[in-house]
Amino acid sequence: MKNNSIIIIVLGVFVALVAALLFRLKLFTVEEEEEDLRLFTVEELALYNGTHPDLPILLGILGSVFDVTKGKSHYGTGGGYNHFSGRDASRAFVSGNFTGDGLTDSLQGLSSSEVKSVVEWRDFYFRSYTFVGKLVGRYYDSQGNSTKYLKGVEVKAARGAQLLEKQKKEEAKQPSCNSRWSQGDGGEVWCDVGVPRLVQRPLEIALTGKMSKRCACFKEEQLDQPGLEVYDGCDFLGKSCRVN
Ligand code: HEM
Ligand SMILES: *[C@@H]1O[C@H](CO)[C@@H](O)[C@H](O)[C@H]1NC(C)=O
Ligand SMILES: *[C@@H]1O[C@H](CO)[C@@H](O)[C@H](O)[C@H]1NC(C)=O
Ligand SMILES: *[C@@H]1O[C@H](CO)[C@@H](O)[C@H](O)[C@H]1NC(C)=O
Repeated sequence: MKNNSIIIIVLGVFVALVAALLFRLKLFTVEEEEEDLRLFTVEELALYNGTHPDLPILLGILGSVFDVTKGKSHYGTGGGYNHFSGRDASRAFVSGNFTGDGLTDSLQGLSSSEVKSVVEWRDFYFRSYTFVGKLVGRYYDSQGNSTKYLKGVEVKAARGAQLLEKQKKEEAKQPSCNSRWSQGDGGEVWCDVGVPRLVQRPLEIALTGKMSKRCACFKEEQLDQPGLEVYDGCDFLGKSCRVN
C-alpha cells in the first residue's frame, strides 16, 4: 500500500518532468502562439517611455515593439537613447537626429543602404531583447498584418544589401591604397604595387544617391583607364601622395 503510493508519486513527478522538458524543447506547444502578440497604438506605446517606474520600457522599430527594460541605462530617463523609448523613431537610427521631427517612423527619401541599416537595427533588437508586439500604424495594420510600406522597406533593404555585395566584389578587383594620418604630418596614401588614384566608388550613386571616392592602386599599364584622378600635388607616377 505504502510502496504503491510512492511509486505513483515518483511516476507522476517523472511524467511532469518529461512534459516540462518536451514543452521547453517545443516538441509540443499549447495553442498560445498568437496570445503574446500584442497590438499597440501610438498612444499606448507612449506610456512605456521609461517615465513610469512600474512599467517596462518599450521601443518600436519598423513597427516591431521590444521590451528594452534591461537596457534601462540607455533607454530610461536620462539615458542617451531615451528618445527611442515609447515610440517608433525608426528614422533616427540612421539620421542620429533625436530632436523634433527627426523622431519619426518615416524612412521617406533614405537611400537603400540606409534602409538596410534600419533593418539591421531591428535584427539587433530581435537578437538582444524580447519582442512583445506590433505597433498599429505605418508598418502594421489593425489586424497586425504588415503593410505595403513595410514590404517596400524590406525590398529596398534587400536591394541595398545586394548592391553593397556587388560593390564589395567590384572594389576587390582593384586594391585599395594604404593610408595613414597623423596630427603633425596630416594624411598620406601610398601603394605597395602601382600608384594611387582617386576613383569614384562603383554603384555608390545607386546605393546612397551620393558621389563618393576612394583611393585605389593602379599599375602603369592600367593608367589610361577613364575616371582615374591624380592626387593634387602628386607626381603622375608617384607611389605616395599627401592628402590634406
Ligand atoms: C546615428 C547615430 C547613433 C545611433 C542611432 C546610436 C544608437 C545606439 C543604440 C540604440 C544603442 C543601445 C544599444 C543597446 O541596446 O545595447 C547604442 C549604444 C552605444 N552607442 Fe550609439 N548610436 C549612435 C551614435 C553613437 C556615437 C557617435 C557614439 C560614440 C561617440 C556612440 C556610442 C555608443 C556606445 C559606447 C554604446 C554602448 C553603450 C553601452 O553598452 O554601455 N553611439 N547606440
Ligand atoms: C513620457 O510620457 C509621459 C506621460 O505621457 C510624459 O509626461 C513624459 O514627458 C514622457 N517622457 C519623455 C522623456 O518623453
Ligand atoms: C532634425 O530634424 C529636424 C526636422 O527634420 C530639423 O529641423 C533639425 O534641423 C534636425 N536636426 C539636426 C541636428 O539635424
Ligand atoms: C490579415 O490577417 C488576418 C488574420 O489576422 C488574415 O486572416 C488575413 O488573411 C490577413 N490579410 C492579409 C492580406 O494578409
